[in-house]
Amino acid sequence: MNLAGSIAVVTGASSGIGEAIALELAARGVRLTLTARREDRLEALGGRISSRGAEAPLLVAADLREAEDIGRIFEESRARWGGLDILVNNAGLGRKAGFHDGATEDWREMLEVNVLALTVACREALASFDKDRGGHILNVSSMAGHRIPPRGGFYAATKFAVRAITECLRQELRTLRSPSRVSEISPGFVTTEFHDVFYRGDAEQIAERLPDYRVLEPRDVAASVLHILEAPDHVAIHDVLIRSNEQES
Ligand SMILES: NC(=O)c1ccc[n+]([C@@H]2O[C@H](COP(=O)([O-])OP(=O)(O)OC[C@H]3O[C@@H](n4cnc5c(N)ncnc54)[C@H](OP(=O)(O)O)[C@@H]3O)[C@@H](O)[C@H]2O)c1
Repeated sequence: MNLAGSIAVVTGASSGIGEAIALELAARGVRLTLTARREDRLEALGGRISSRGAEAPLLVAADLREAEDIGRIFEESRARWGGLDILVNNAGLGRKAGFHDGATEDWREMLEVNVLALTVACREALASFDKDRGGHILNVSSMAGHRIPPRGGFYAATKFAVRAITECLRQELRTLRSPSRVSEISPGFVTTEFHDVFYRGDAEQIAERLPDYRVLEPRDVAASVLHILEAPDHVAIHDVLIRSNEQES
């Protein structure tokens, strides 16, 4: 399916995987609404996209822990572009917060961003999709949503939830005879700021956890996201598990 001219919202576009997905979509002529909290990062990305000759994206600074902010992203996007075809539910975070010693606030933040905001965004996107044509929701899950990694903690629980939400939503859309599709992608270790956030910038722990083999880069994940989104209308790629060839599990 040719994506040129379609309209997409990408959450968590200020860094890592979201930024790479935004660049790939822009290169294919997708009109973008990019959102995250860090405005300066969004502006820099918007500048890169425009300088490559693609249409300037709409940038919406928003905190996904605030339900009103999520609503505003979709309102502003509809006002700018007049519709919606794709939602990339990419924003997410992990915190080192095991079950025996984790902080309630860390669990709450992961739950609010990785699970609740993703769910609200699914509902808002479905309301914005064309009733006859439908649209495509792509949730970014994780290998941590398929098996429990050592130190996975509450983060893994939120990604198992993303998997459940994706499958429940697929069934719901089918029951409703909706033309819309929902997919997910489940990356293994990717070099992004995710790990700085997880260890709160503790360089020693970050270095300790960095695999000694070549890991995935954000653009590797973005290439698979494109594959999912470009599938013909009648094809629903449900999940793509992607990890370094050398990753243990
Ligand atoms: N890196 C990995 O190894 C890996 C593996 C599997 C899955 N994933 C998943 O991939 C997705 C992207 O992560 P990444 O690796 O690219 O990490 P990243 O570079 O840290 O990006 C995370 C993105 O989420 C946004 N975000 C976090 N909290 C937010 C909030 N409250 N409101 C709005 N936006 C928020 C961040 O933007 P602001 O800080 O500017 O708000 C940022 O753009 C996540 O869902 C993550 O769980 C990552």
